[in-house]
Amino acid sequence: MKRSPSVLLAIGPLLSREVDLDELLDKIVRRVADAVGADRGTLYLLDPDAGELFSRAAHLPELKQIRLRLGQGIAGAVAQSGVAVNLPAAHADRRFFAEIDRQTGYRTRSLMAQPLRDRQGQLIGVIQVLNAAAGAFTSDDEARLSCLAAEAALAIESTSLYLQIRPRRGSAPVLPLGYRFNRIIGEAPAMQRVYGLTQKAAATSATVLIRGESGTGKELIARAIHFNSPRRDGPFVKVDCSTIPATLMENELFGHERGAYTGADSRSVGKCEAAAGGTLFIDELGELPLGLQAKLLRFVQDREFERVGGTRTLTADARLVAATHQELESMVGRGLFREDLYYRIKVVQIALPPLRERGTDDILRLAEHFLDVYRKKHGKEAELSAAARQRLCAHRWPGNIRELEHCIESAVVLSDGAEIGADQLALPGAATAPTAGVFVPRTLDDVEQEHVVRTLASVGQNRTQAAHLLGIGRNTLLRKLKEWKLA
Ligand SMILES: Nc1ncnc2c1ncn2[C@@H]1O[C@H](COP(=O)(O)OP(=O)(O)OP(=O)(O)O)[C@@H](O)[C@H]1O
Ligand SMILES: [Mg+2]
Repeated sequence: MKRSPSVLLAIGPLLSREVDLDELLDKIVRRVADAVGADRGTLYLLDPDAGELFSRAAHLPELKQIRLRLGQGIAGAVAQSGVAVNLPAAHADRRFFAEIDRQTGYRTRSLMAQPLRDRQGQLIGVIQVLNAAAGAFTSDDEARLSCLAAEAALAIESTSLYLQIRPRRGSAPVLPLGYRFNRIIGEAPAMQRVYGLTQKAAATSATVLIRGESGTGKELIARAIHFNSPRRDGPFVKVDCSTIPATLMENELFGHERGAYTGADSRSVGKCEAAAGGTLFIDELGELPLGLQAKLLRFVQDREFERVGGTRTLTADARLVAATHQELESMVGRGLFREDLYYRIKVVQIALPPLRERGTDDILRLAEHFLDVYRKKHGKEAELSAAARQRLCAHRWPGNIRELEHCIESAVVLSDGAEIGADQLALPGAATAPTAGVFVPRTLDDVEQEHVVRTLASVGQNRTQAAHLLGIGRNTLLRKLKEWKLA
């Protein structure tokens, strides 16, 4: 039995790669089982509302999902007592739930199980390994499992994947089991639609057009599509049409043959070719020179091209994902973008909402996320004050998430105390720009929160006056602000 030399799971690199929760958990289970010389393992997560554990990753392909009440079976008993177990003969233990073995035909002998806890010490699940290669698990194995469980819990907790399946207190459980994308923060309904489309598109090799204002996360979604697709082990190659001069663009896309022009003393491979087996991401598609659009169309249709200065027709099997912030339709109308290319590219369209339409919950979630990232990066301890949170909610974010990210990073860098005040955010005072006339469905809670924040901003944070304008008591206002962590 192969054992990993180190106790560390090296989950960090996995996290940046895994954009699919189940695959991440699966890898964790496999690594843990390997590290302690077990035949197989199961990772259970806690569904706190149902008071049950559900298996989320396992070596047992025969069983889709196991659900155990707290106290039921050995994993359930570990969840209930919070105490790890190491049993050389699990089937002889009275807590053993023999039904699973009966259903799978597997014969459990030795078993170790360890609770998984988040940073606050709350139980989030149980990890269980079965059948030590050496017959029984040793106390060394026990110690190893305990370290690994701590590391796995931290990894699971710190990924946005887990946050998205974890039921929030007081809200209807969103458990289980849809796929979500790592490091992409946001739960607004418009983002849920984006996740759904991204997931569907990723499973195919269809051409995708991602639209959205500057800084809304187009590149992030393009990467999520690639890393969730069957081509994930192939290259992800980006061409940015807005930064490459038009004259060099053809070279960039298709490469050149030796002697194609002065200075071309060797052959060069273009990005279409480099992306073979993977995904070609064409950023700022609207900036692609008209003259090149016909050549790209040919590539989109038949995956055929010629290098600059070449006569041989080549092919490359690259999946295409394009992004733009421009109104391609009106460019088509004005003769600036080829209509045939437009229709070929927009097989699947994913429209990213501007941040101001995602609501204040998402703004605060993203702000906390960036706070976390930049605190670690710059070694600072800063927290956002209630006033700073209000200011973030009231801003209209024309530069979207990129603007928010920069705003938080500079506040972290410049902060000298434990708290970031509203004045330390490099933002203009309460914004007044009107909302665009497009109807965007949002939750009532979200609309309420934004309305309250903007009312407060309009009266210079005077709560008595704001409460009066809102037609509610001052205490009700205070309670709401506390609930939203804005006071
Ligand atoms: N939902 C999200 N969760 C976390 N980070 C995000 C999210 N969306 C965007 N970001 C971050 O915001 C920044 C801008 O995102 P990205 O570059 O993907 O946007 P874009 O639409 O391509 O912008 P541009 O049009 O300016 O090129 C990046 O640092 C990205 O990691
Ligand atoms: Mg971009």
